Amino acid sequence: MQHLIYTAILFTWTDYKTILIPVTAFACATGPIHSVSKLLQSIAWIWIHLLLCNVSNQAGSEAEDKINHPWRPLPSGMITKSQARQLRMGTVITCLLWSWFYGLDLVAITAALIATTWMYDEAGLSNTALGKNFCNIGGYVSLELGATKLMGKTLQLDTVSITAALLSGALIFTTIQAQDFPDVEGDAASGRITFPIYAPEFSRVFTLFATVMWSIGLGWYWASGTVVWEAFTILGLYVGFRYYKWRTPDRDRRSYLIFNVWLVCAHLLPLHARLNVPPA
Ligand SMILES: *[C@@H]1O[C@H](CO)[C@@H](O)[C@H](O)[C@H]1NC(C)=O
Repeated sequence: MQHLIYTAILFTWTDYKTILIPVTAFACATGPIHSVSKLLQSIAWIWIHLLLCNVSNQAGSEAEDKINHPWRPLPSGMITKSQARQLRMGTVITCLLWSWFYGLDLVAITAALIATTWMYDEAGLSNTALGKNFCNIGGYVSLELGATKLMGKTLQLDTVSITAALLSGALIFTTIQAQDFPDVEGDAASGRITFPIYAPEFSRVFTLFATVMWSIGLGWYWASGTVVWEAFTILGLYVGFRYYKWRTPDRDRRSYLIFNVWLVCAHLLPLHARLNVPPA
């Protein structure tokens, strides 16, 4: 059992900062968070679904992981390939039951996530930059919608929540390459064509442009107030500038960490709309 829990934690290790924390923050701000019990239920739901995606992902990316992430359960030999496949089946069933406990809406979200994950890993969409991107957004937005449902007072989603999740999807769609810069070597070795590999110069210019424009646009849309807006824009500018200026794997890893701080901030902005909404 301990081994299983440890293995599960390692499967999801890379994505605490990229998925679990940002999605939780988003749901807290957007739901908005109703109680500690809701918070825990929401986090548990996100985590088990993250595990589903990641077991599935890593069952097929051993070659790349040997180079970029040798400590992961499969390349390090903690778990065999056939055990990973069993675990994958186990997570699919667990997630469906878990959501079923809350109602069919959530089952539909889980099904959407399973479908995107399948397209990503089995139908080969992860091998093209665009396909990879589409699946990632599908996954991310599904997690956000599910987490927000569980976080708020009721399971219903209103316009603010849905708009916030769609904007988040668009934001991820245009900035997800941030995660590919540090992995260029391993990706190239496994024949993956990511945006940074396809267009080394343009992808960095584009990232700078995107982080700045999103900072300005989101601060304006959510009417976050001048101080927050400026601080958020400066952070966005800094991250974009790092990616543009410093191009070694070490620097890129650090930039990606800061990018995630910026991403969490971006996902907290809807809170402003919540604070202005009079209680129903
Ligand atoms: C884990 O799953 C998420 C959601 O689909 C994905 O974005 C992320 O890249 C995955 N990470 C790993 C390490 O498999």
